[in-house]
Amino acid sequence: MSSILSSLGQTVLNIEARAKWQAPSNIALIKYWGKIGPQIPANPSLSLTLSRSLSETTLLCTPSDKMEVSFEFEGKNHPKFAQKMEQFLVGLSAEWAFLKKIKYNIISKNTFPHSAGIASSASGMAAFCLCLLDIIYQMNNLPKDELFYIRASHLSRLGSGSACRSIYGGLVEWGQSPLDQSYSDTHATPVKMAIHPEFSHLQDAILIVSSEEKPISSREGHGRMGVHPYSSVRFSQAKSNFEQLLKGLKIGDWSIVGPIIESEALSLHAMMMTSPEPYILLKPKTLELIQLIKHFREESQLPVYFTIDAGPNLHVIYPESVKAKVQTFLENEARPLVEAIIFDEEGHGPQVC
Ligand code: DP6
Repeated sequence: MSSILSSLGQTVLNIEARAKWQAPSNIALIKYWGKIGPQIPANPSLSLTLSRSLSETTLLCTPSDKMEVSFEFEGKNHPKFAQKMEQFLVGLSAEWAFLKKIKYNIISKNTFPHSAGIASSASGMAAFCLCLLDIIYQMNNLPKDELFYIRASHLSRLGSGSACRSIYGGLVEWGQSPLDQSYSDTHATPVKMAIHPEFSHLQDAILIVSSEEKPISSREGHGRMGVHPYSSVRFSQAKSNFEQLLKGLKIGDWSIVGPIIESEALSLHAMMMTSPEPYILLKPKTLELIQLIKHFREESQLPVYFTIDAGPNLHVIYPESVKAKVQTFLENEARPLVEAIIFDEEGHGPQVC
C-alpha cells in the first residue's frame, strides 16, 4: 500500500458504520492487458465510463474480535464473492491493522443482468472500495474532497485494475504517460485535455453474445502476458495507440479514433490466441457481428466502430448524433443474433446513495 492510503492512519472502529454507493462499469478503448507487481499496468489505458451498467453496494461494518465477511449478491448469499473480498481485505490489513477487527456485511446488486457478459468486477470493486473508504473517512471525520476519489481509485486498483477507472465519469485514463505528468500508474485520472464535441457523449450498445462465465479469468490472462513472446511489442503498440487516440479525440477525427478502437480489441484477443497457453474467448457470433458492423459502416458511411473486452460480447461505439439510426440498425440486424442488447452511453461516475 502506498503512502496515499497509509497516511489515513490506524483508527479503530468502535461503532457500527454504514455506506452505500453506486459505481458504473467502464469499457476500455485502449486496453490494460498485462501488469507488473501489485496491479501496476504495463501500459496506459483509456476508458469510457458507462451510465446504465452499474453496481449498487451497501457495506455495513460492525466492530468484532476478528475479520468476518458476508456477501449477499442480488438477494442470495454468495460465499465465493465473500471469500474474494476477504482476501482483498486481508491484503489491505497488512497496512491497515484495524480492518482485522471488523465484521463486513456486503449487500450488492447490478442494474444489468448478472453474468450477462459485462464485466461487473470493475463496477462491483469500485462500489465496494467507495463504501470502505467512505467508512474510513467517517471514522476519521474527513470531508469527501478530491483526495477521497484519488484514494478510492487507488484502493479500487488494488482490488481490480480496471475498477480504478470506474471512480470517474466520462473518458478516464490510467497509467503513466509522457503526455501528462499527472497521469499515474497507481490511480486513474479523468482525461484533462479538451475533447472535441464529436466525442463528448459517446454511445455504447453492448451486444451480449454469451452470458456464460469466461473459461479464463482476466487475472489469469494478465498473468500469461508476463511470459508472452509478443508482450513488449504489444505494450509499445498500446502506448502509441494511446497517444494517437488522444490526438484523434482532441481534433474530433473518427478516421483516427475508430480504427484504433478496433485494433485494440483485436490485439487484445490476438494476445490470448498467441499466448504460450493459447485460448479463444471470441465466439462465431462475435465475428459475425464484427462483419455486420463493418458492412453497415461502409454502406451508411456513419462512424460506428466496435470494441471487445475479455469476453465474446461486442461493444458498438458511436457518437450521439447518429444514435437513432444505429439503434434502429442494431434492433433490426443484430437483435436476432444476440441474447440481449444494452443501450448504454457515457456516464457521470459513481454516486453516494
Ligand atoms: C480486457 O481489471 O479485470 O477489460 O486487474 O486482474 O482484476 P485485474 O483485471 P481486470 O482486467 C481488465 C482487462 C480488460 C481491459 C481493460 O479494462 O482495460
